[in-house]
Amino acid sequence: MKRSEIKKEVKKRYGQLAEKGSSCCPDYSCCDIGYSIEEIKDLPSDISEFSLGCGNPVALADIRKGETVLDIGSGGGLDVFLASKKVGPEGKVIGLDMTEQMVEKARKNAIKGNYNNVEFKLGEIEDIPVKDNSIDLIMSNCVINLVPDKEKAYREIYRILKPGGRFVISDLVTEKEVDESIKNNPEKLVACVGGALTEKGYIGAIKKSGFKNVNILKKSSMVVSRVKVLSETIKGEKG
Ligand SMILES: C[S@@+](CC[C@H](N)C(=O)[O-])C[C@H]1O[C@@H](n2cnc3c(N)ncnc32)[C@H](O)[C@@H]1O
Repeated sequence: MKRSEIKKEVKKRYGQLAEKGSSCCPDYSCCDIGYSIEEIKDLPSDISEFSLGCGNPVALADIRKGETVLDIGSGGGLDVFLASKKVGPEGKVIGLDMTEQMVEKARKNAIKGNYNNVEFKLGEIEDIPVKDNSIDLIMSNCVINLVPDKEKAYREIYRILKPGGRFVISDLVTEKEVDESIKNNPEKLVACVGGALTEKGYIGAIKKSGFKNVNILKKSSMVVSRVKVLSETIKGEKG
């Protein structure tokens, strides 16, 4: 599939999911409940039941009071809202998503949950509408696999992090290269497996962007849309 077709398909399918407002795990979703009851028990059910991620970056990111955090591909906003408690009123959490319906849904959720230190922006990861060197932590949950140009995505992440800033990102990778029939299948693509790189390719794209101390914090294997994949949460630092 061409890059422009991939993005069109992703926007269409995730737009439909946002409008449907259903809970996690439709046929083609890459979602996995990576949250403990304790973490989500105080959230309105509209928020806690709408998770399309494949890990729990918030739990592993050691988020501190006062930090400025950006969640890329924020969907309905679950990770943004979890992080908002951790940064406290003196911090800020921004969600970014390219699908209008997702941004609308997240903004409504913010009002419903009375979150005052969050903001949702419409925009693309390949061209993040945020200033250079301005973010302490970038997180993301099952999104970069959907981005056709992963190196560009990681270059943008590098650009907007403050010196010494970090990313903690959960994503799917494959053990071995998936074949062309999977790569070109729109269902597998939106299910987060068609565009997934191998672990080696993924870590390579991160390192090429300039990050140091790149580590896999958590790894588990799973089957998504009948493809065996690894869910990994990876951390890296801007030197
Ligand atoms: C699998 S969902 C994950 C949503 C959320 N992170 C979660 O855990 O529930 C992927 C999200 O990434 C967004 N997305 C995909 N490609 C994107 C891109 N290039 N730029 C911005 N957002 C993107 C989609 O619109 C969708 O909301």
